[in-house]
This record gives sequence, structure tokens and C-alpha cells, in this order.
Amino acid sequence: MSDKVAWIIGGGTGIGAAVARVLAAEGWTVAISGRRLEPLQALADGERIHAFPLDVTDTGAVELAVAEMIARLGRIDLFIFGAAAWQERKVSDYAIGPFSAVLDANFMGLVRFLDPLHAQMRRQGGGQIVGIASVAGYFGLPRSAAYSSSKAAMISLLQTMRTELADSGIRVRMIAPGFVKSELTARNDFPMPFLMETEAGARRIVDGLLRSDRFEIAFPRRLVWPMKLLRMVPYPLFFRVMRRLPKAKA
Ligand SMILES: NC(=O)c1ccc[n+]([C@@H]2O[C@H](COP(=O)([O-])OP(=O)(O)OC[C@H]3O[C@@H](n4cnc5c(N)ncnc54)[C@H](OP(=O)(O)O)[C@@H]3O)[C@@H](O)[C@H]2O)c1
Repeated sequence: MSDKVAWIIGGGTGIGAAVARVLAAEGWTVAISGRRLEPLQALADGERIHAFPLDVTDTGAVELAVAEMIARLGRIDLFIFGAAAWQERKVSDYAIGPFSAVLDANFMGLVRFLDPLHAQMRRQGGGQIVGIASVAGYFGLPRSAAYSSSKAAMISLLQTMRTELADSGIRVRMIAPGFVKSELTARNDFPMPFLMETEAGARRIVDGLLRSDRFEIAFPRRLVWPMKLLRMVPYPLFFRVMRRLPKAKA
């Protein structure tokens, strides 16, 4: 058992909720946040798992939530940002409204936590800051302009932070899942190779976080490695492959 405290943003459903359950079973005290109260309350038990409803697009609410979290649970050893908006976009649809909404939640949502989180982790002598990005952030995927960009931005930010905070006792980590069953993927109508059960994905994440110090926790390998390889091939070949993806239809 451990007396450590984790805070999972996007912890009411899907991967976040499954990670909360695994951490609680390992003895962690876990705070979960999201906008909807019902899924948070369904998971919270008032003992190991606590609900902190929150909209990550509201800067004031984020600052208040960090303060409330510290007042109630005392510290934040492990912070996992997994809130995300996902909506498949039509090809060549870059309308500013929906595009900024995705960036605001998926990327700026994380940025809003960083200052207060950093201050708290310095005060308590360290901690882990983790972003759930995606293999969709490795490069720009068709019909996923805003989502792919938001995850690429998150990967870049976390890389910067890992370097900048290397000597501070704050470990910065990035999670890149392939396809995992959740509310988010339930809306997809395209093939999802190597789709994983939610629980299995959560176990991979918790194992990676608690039993390694790697920057990147990416899975499943049979999807991750071809994706990584695609980043390295010359652009003419890269775009030939992209145009063959089922989602690339005009
Ligand atoms: N499932 C996959 O295959 C997959 C693959 C790669 C990466 N990921 C990433 O994994 C993370 C978890 O996704 P999931 O698949 O488990 O889907 P999910 O169940 O839809 O989880 C997304 C969570 O984000 C919360 N959220 C969305 N907007 C929010 C906001 N403005 N403020 C606060 N919370 C907000 C949602 O709760 P509310 O709606 O109640 O706010 C929900 O709990 C996401 O970052 C996703 O991009 C998933």
C-alpha cells in the first residue's frame, strides 16, 4: 500500500477511470476530474477515490481546483492529464470554432495546470507530471487535423518540460496509446487496428508509470513501431501511405 496521491484529469470515464481504479487498488489516494458529475460520482468512494468536477477550459476553475485539491488531499505526487475532445473532421474542414475548442481542451487544458502544479511540486519536493498524448500526435493524420495537432503540441511541450525540469525532482512523462476501447473510440466508424480493452491499456500505463522512468509509455508495440518508422521515411513515401488510410477519402 502507498499513501501517495494521484490526480487524473479525465478520470471519470474510459482510460482515466480505469487508471484510477488500478491506482486505487495499488493503495493510492486518487482524485478524478471531468465536467460531468455523474461518472465522477459513480466511481468515487469517498475513501480511495475522490471527485473534483472541473472544466479544463476554465482557467479560474483550474486554479481553484488545484488549491482545493491540495487543501483536501495535501499533495499531488502524480498528475495525469487525459482530458480530450475528439471529433472526426471532414477533409479540408478547418473551421476556427471547433478547431480552437479541441486545442483549448486537449492542449491549453494541460498548460493551465502547469504553473500552480509546478509550484506545488517544488514545495513538496517533487512529483510526476504526465500527459496522455496519442500515437495520433506522432504526425498529422487525415480527418484529424485539430486532434492530431493538439497531441503533437502536447508531445512537444512535454519534451521541453522533461529537459527543463530534469534537475528539479519533477519527472515529466508522455503516454502514447494506440486504440483503446472508450467513449471516445466508440464514436469511430473506421478500422482501429489492435484495439485494446480499457483495463489492459490502463495496466500498461500504471506499470510504465510506477515501474519505469521512461519518458514515453507507448503501446501496443505492433502499432507503435510501424508508426514510429513512418516518421522516418522520406515524405513522398509518407504521403503515399497517408493517402491510402481509410480516413483519407475526400
Ligand atoms: N481511446 C483511445 O484509443 C485513445 C488513444 C490515444 C489517446 N487517447 C487519449 O486518452 C485520453 C482518455 O481518452 P479516452 O479514450 O478514455 O476517452 P474518454 O472516455 O472520452 O475520456 C476523455 C475524458 O476527458 C474529459 N473531458 C473532456 N473535455 C473536458 C473538459 N473540457 N474539462 C474536463 N474534462 C474534460 C471527459 O469527461 P467530461 O466529458 O465529463 O468532461 C472524459 O472523461 C484522452 O486524452 C485521449 O485523447 C485515447
